[in-house]
Amino acid sequence: MKNTVIIQASSRSNGDSFKISEQLLKLKGIDFIDLNTLSINHYDYDYQNKNDDFNPLATKIADKYDNIIFITPIYWYTMSGLLKVFLDRFSDLIRIHKDTGRKFRGKNVGLISVNNSDAYLKNFSEPIDLSCQYLGMNFKKYLHVPVIDETISNKSIEELNQFYNLF
Ligand SMILES: Cc1cc2nc3c(=O)[nH]c(=O)nc-3n(C[C@H](O)[C@H](O)[C@H](O)COP(=O)(O)O)c2cc1C
Repeated sequence: MKNTVIIQASSRSNGDSFKISEQLLKLKGIDFIDLNTLSINHYDYDYQNKNDDFNPLATKIADKYDNIIFITPIYWYTMSGLLKVFLDRFSDLIRIHKDTGRKFRGKNVGLISVNNSDAYLKNFSEPIDLSCQYLGMNFKKYLHVPVIDETISNKSIEELNQFYNLF
């Protein structure tokens, strides 16, 4: 695995999502971005948010990484608001920062969801998968990891290792 970044999208930096990030960060060659520590505003048609953290972050990801792994808690049956707002801002890369947007083509994307049960959510990955298709990125794999009693099962750790090996 090379030039890989985790983008964690939980509303708490040291919660269940971070337990999964920690597992992956034990492996070499992987960087970490916590959206919860950044100021990324909602999409604005008038681009009044141009001085927030989105464009420097998108430029860094575009220039530095081949593989992007999103880790999101399930909030109300879908991705977290932090991840959805980050995704919405890709419209800036289509409308304004087109050179940066083009650099995302060909990147590999993985998605990990977390909650506190095994409950299977049909179609959870579809918005990310379809967005990747639209942007010319390769959506490689979706994995759900339950964190129950603050613990990741051995089965999930094995699945995380297999997930990691795909990149
Ligand atoms: C706002 C909010 C909404 C949630 N909605 C769901 C849900 O729809 N389905 C579910 O299984 N868990 C739901 N949960 C529980 C979280 O997915 C779960 O606790 C997760 O492990 C939290 O990860 P975090 O510590 O990284 O935020 C919700 C939690 C919050 C705070």
